[in-house]
Amino acid sequence: MNWEPLLAAAAEARRHSHSPYSRFAVGAAVETESGAIFAGANVENRSFGVTLCAERSAFAAAVSAGHRRFRSVAIVTDTAPPSAPCGVCRETMSEFCAPEMPILLANPQGERRMTSLGALFPEPFRFQPGKTSAR
Ligand code: THU
Repeated sequence: MNWEPLLAAAAEARRHSHSPYSRFAVGAAVETESGAIFAGANVENRSFGVTLCAERSAFAAAVSAGHRRFRSVAIVTDTAPPSAPCGVCRETMSEFCAPEMPILLANPQGERRMTSLGALFPEPFRFQPGKTSAR
């Protein structure tokens, strides 16, 4: 697969990161099964806990546009090696994506690490809606 369009979208979104508190800008982009690309940046808040990570920002945009199935994710951070997504974002991805889904971690210096959702989040929480036991 050609990762360049997804990486470019993540890098472009990262330019729009609102991160005056941490000064750590993150960009993420997700490719839908139909080939569309949605990107997001981290959006911080003066009430720190309200902060939205770039990955959830990208997934929220894609899901809000009606997409539910995804092929790949790219994440750009200025760290060496490139950072992996936080636990909350891994959980969010596991709602929509298969364990085989590739995730490319990259930095602006050109360093890249390929991983997968299953490698980063091997045991997702599972439950069957409507089949929970009565209290
Ligand atoms: N951040 C992300 O955007 N994605 C992650 O997976 C981890 C952290 C953001 C949140 C905050 O704005 C900054 O990085 C520092 O934690």
